[in-house]
Amino acid sequence: TIDPQFHENREKVDEHNGHAVWGPVDEPEELGIHGTHVAVDFDLCIADGACLEDCPVDVFEWVDTPGHPESEEKADPAKEAQCIDCMLCVDVCPVDAIDVDAG
Ligand code: SF4
Ligand code: F3S
Ligand code: ZN
Repeated sequence: TIDPQFHENREKVDEHNGHAVWGPVDEPEELGIHGTHVAVDFDLCIADGACLEDCPVDVFEWVDTPGHPESEEKADPAKEAQCIDCMLCVDVCPVDAIDVDAG
């Protein structure tokens, strides 16, 4: 399960597709958390795809992550600013890799 306190427990180490990356990152095995409002723990994501299918405003897009032990692609919150806080992605992810801070 993604740590809901990741913004306190982790540090921003990079930017990707216009969002923050929260470390630690040690590619290709350790990729950290992508996004802040819509956050995906890339080290938990198994590329199930339910979040991409169900998000009503297409926040997510696939990124290739060759060499990661869990999956070779990840759901990247490329358009997190479009999120309408419906929480569907949080509910459907089988490994609880997504946190949405609905405030
Ligand atoms: Fe998309 Fe809803 Fe998840 Fe926001 S909370 S990313 S709108 S599925
Ligand atoms: Fe990954 Fe969960 Fe989406 S496993 S692809 S974040 S539904
Ligand atoms: Zn990203």
